[in-house]
Amino acid sequence: MIPRQAELPLKNKRVVITAGGTKERIDPVRYITNDSSGKMGYSLASVARDLGAQVTIISATSQLPEPFGVTVVYVSSALEMLDAVLKEYALVDIVVMAAAVSDYRPKKQASKKIKKSEELLIIELEKTTDILYQLGHTKQQQFLIGFAAETNNLESYAQEKLMRKKANMIVANDVSKPNVGFNQDTNEVIIFTPNSEPVKVSIRSKQKVAEEIFKVAIEQMIK
Ligand code: CTP
Ligand code: CA
Repeated sequence: MIPRQAELPLKNKRVVITAGGTKERIDPVRYITNDSSGKMGYSLASVARDLGAQVTIISATSQLPEPFGVTVVYVSSALEMLDAVLKEYALVDIVVMAAAVSDYRPKKQASKKIKKSEELLIIELEKTTDILYQLGHTKQQQFLIGFAAETNNLESYAQEKLMRKKANMIVANDVSKPNVGFNQDTNEVIIFTPNSEPVKVSIRSKQKVAEEIFKVAIEQMIK
């Protein structure tokens, strides 16, 4: 059945979704990363495509199949992800920062493999750019959806991220709960927006959570 236009609320919209955990190199054979699988971002991408959008995933994982009809741009570090997002940003309608972006990277990257010698090896880390913050503070038409992975004080941390990063929505999950967030096939989230009550989405597949996220986003965009 060919869906009618009314069923394609994101028709002609450009959507960029970041996914996966970035990798920050220590030396040619070692890096720092996190537990993100990219599954939430990829589920969001296929839902956005089904809603009619032109979708690009800026992906920090090569472990997932490319969803049909979606463009995938592969990146590794937080800096590469920032550059890839900024390349698209001017013409984008919705950005979803589902990636777990490294907060820190090694201050120096060794060009040769670090040999074991000292008993105690100290690697200095410096902060990466906060991509969502930068997007929020240079925002024009774009609708910005961020995530918040928390283990405690979920509501206050999520509200704080929503305001500080000037996002339109923050999807918060409590990653200390079993079957929630990182590396799982299911998720349970609370969606925060600036002027509406938080929306609780009980535990379900990441695909179904992605559908709820876009439902709330579309409601907010036409408000
Ligand atoms: N994010 C980002 N760039 C970073 C770090 C995070 O764009 N360098 C984005 C994430 O993709 C997510 C949101 O900011 O959409 C919140 O990420 P999170 O790790 O929960 O929060 P942080 O602001 O990094 O704070 P903390 O890790 O200390 O809770
Ligand atoms: Ca972080």
